[in-house]
Amino acid sequence: MINVNSGGSINARINKSVATAISLRHATGMPFIRVRPQDDDLVQQVVDLENTAKRVDDPEADDSIPELVARGLKYGWDLEPGEKYLYYPEGGDTPLGVLDIDHPMRDNLQLVWAGLVVHPDHRRRGHGTAMMEEVLRQTRELGRSIIWMGTAEDDLGARAFLERFGFVYSSHDARRFQVLADVDRAELDRLHREAMAAASDYELVRQMSPTPDGILEQLIKVTAAINDAPMGDLVFEDEKFDLQRLKDIETASAGTGNRLYRIFARHKITGEVGGHTVVVTNPLRPTFAGQGDTAVSREHRGHRLGMLLKIEMMHWLADVEPQLERIETWNHADNTFMINVNEAIGYRLSRVFAAFQLLLDQQATTVASAEATKETLTPVGG
Ligand SMILES: CC(C)(COP(=O)(O)OP(=O)(O)OC[C@H]1O[C@@H](n2cnc3c(N)ncnc32)[C@H](O)[C@@H]1OP(=O)(O)O)[C@@H](O)C(=O)NCCC(=O)NCCS
Repeated sequence: MINVNSGGSINARINKSVATAISLRHATGMPFIRVRPQDDDLVQQVVDLENTAKRVDDPEADDSIPELVARGLKYGWDLEPGEKYLYYPEGGDTPLGVLDIDHPMRDNLQLVWAGLVVHPDHRRRGHGTAMMEEVLRQTRELGRSIIWMGTAEDDLGARAFLERFGFVYSSHDARRFQVLADVDRAELDRLHREAMAAASDYELVRQMSPTPDGILEQLIKVTAAINDAPMGDLVFEDEKFDLQRLKDIETASAGTGNRLYRIFARHKITGEVGGHTVVVTNPLRPTFAGQGDTAVSREHRGHRLGMLLKIEMMHWLADVEPQLERIETWNHADNTFMINVNEAIGYRLSRVFAAFQLLLDQQATTVASAEATKETLTPVGG
């Protein structure tokens, strides 16, 4: 966890921050210290612990980077960041776990998303249980009734842990990587020509953020089309998108230091935006890009827009970010349409992750049951 090659400086910083942290333990006496974006030492401890765990639990994941963790805590995805806590068991001065808690404020007001990780050398000693009790406590304090937590689908230990608290396997998402050096360029060109022919009624527009308000207004509907992506048995409401939220997403992304690339397809006759795709890069991870949403509105499906948008994005990125090596994308594991597009252009499966759900109050959770039934084959995802 602590980088042994870095000499005493990291340890010195950690000891200093632990001293501060202990004095900040909240009034309940619980051993959780909230990590704020400006707490450099605490952020570094989060990063050390997360990276130690990733090497054991998920070696293909990118390392956490202190600046990005701090900016994530400041800006989140849409200026409503989640919270992060370090867990120090009583009597200890070394953090043994990281707890993430996020509770949406614009929709899904019954929901808490949580994540917890225990240092690999300290598992099966009740620390995970102590952290889960904090998740449950905070959820009740917030008056919420649905908790989502995720883990790798093949991590049977984490699964046993979650089921012990009553969580139910409710959905699954697949992570894929596109290694640009491995992409079959001739096949890509063929797919591009095919998609261009099918989408001849559309023009493509490249738009980097910040996007003018007038264009963002036109993107609201296609952004909301992401609600058509399958969600398995997770209980949820459609996410609400309006101009302010789209602006906040771009502001948060800029604050994080990201470059946000979007291509959208405009129907030549009606002028309507039929589909879009978003990719985000960050100079702190120059060879890596993250695929954001790709969505096509219902009335514009069937014109190979998903394929065309993604290939056009590859062309754009090759011009402006030639150093990129790898793009990561996540799709619901049953989102066959989007996965077929991704596989065709060279994405390969890395791992499947399961989403587990705990319903604390069955009555309160019926609110969104109508929303829970989603199409299974939809051209949305990433
Ligand atoms: C899952 C995780 C949080 C459990 O943390 P932990 O501190 O080992 O959990 P606890 O010691 O409180 O375990 C409580 C119970 O969960 C079950 N459990 C936990 N790990 C298990 C494993 N590897 N195999 C089988 N059962 C397990 C057991 O019933 C255990 O009780 P026991 O040790 O008396 O048999 C930890 O393994 C971890 O950080 N994994 C990687 C991150 C992750 O996948 N998190 C998922 C939740 S978001």
